[in-house]
Amino acid sequence: MDTKAIKRAAEILRDSRHVAVLTGSGISAESGIPTFRGKDGLWKQFRAEDLATPEAFARDPKLVWEWYDWRRGIIAKVEPNPGHRTLAKWEEFFHEFSVITQNIDGLHAKAGSKNILELHGNIWKVRCTKDKNVTENYTVPLTEIPPACPVCGAMLRPHVVWFGESLDTGILSRAFGLSSSCDVMLVIGTSAFVQPAASLPLRAAESGAKIIEINPDPTPLTSYAEISLPGKAGEILPAIDGLLQKE
Ligand code: APR
Repeated sequence: MDTKAIKRAAEILRDSRHVAVLTGSGISAESGIPTFRGKDGLWKQFRAEDLATPEAFARDPKLVWEWYDWRRGIIAKVEPNPGHRTLAKWEEFFHEFSVITQNIDGLHAKAGSKNILELHGNIWKVRCTKDKNVTENYTVPLTEIPPACPVCGAMLRPHVVWFGESLDTGILSRAFGLSSSCDVMLVIGTSAFVQPAASLPLRAAESGAKIIEINPDPTPLTSYAEISLPGKAGEILPAIDGLLQKE
């Protein structure tokens, strides 16, 4: 770990009042959840167009649900890691602190974070394809595939954003609002490949915020970062916290 850069990151954070965080699947990797584009990433094993598009769901809802049931099975077995836990702790430490996540695994909430914007939905929520009603469902494995709406009997779909679908406009505009008003944006565990999430740090930088990136690999955002910390979130975040708590 680059201790000099970690020290610098702690200094920048200590002088900040409003911190926003953008996370991707990398922050959950140390919990045992596969990323999407990493070595054994989901998109290396499966074709997104067969499983994560409205067309795929229309074509074969059973296949799509079997895949989400499998992913729910993996996520149900794991716990948040020190990366998630540090971010939850910092909600009390900073004047204003918010987590904007691309992750649908619910691990930020499980770690205790409250100020969370879930850009791509949540795998523990289901939506009725008829009345659009959203409910929570933690049944693992699902007893019925595809599951039916308990109210009207219509088919349920995962309450997640698939490729080709728009994000919730309210959530997205709040995410851009936070990006425009933060002093610092931490960008953690995302390849910054998918839009519009990848534009949030650019908005923050344009608005004068400092970008601190945590990722073992460089990304298209690295050149915008005031500090780039090459390493694992579950190791680097507690290290920064250790310095913050000292003073
Ligand atoms: N700590 C920090 N970063 C990590 C770690 C770790 N322990 N392990 C891997 N990473 C980094 C990888 O280097 C990579 O840059 O996390 C990033 C994960 O990138 P992707 O697999 O592309 O995942 P993500 O950016 O979250 O994908 C965005 O794409 O498939 C869609 O909707 C899906 O929300 C997802 C979106």
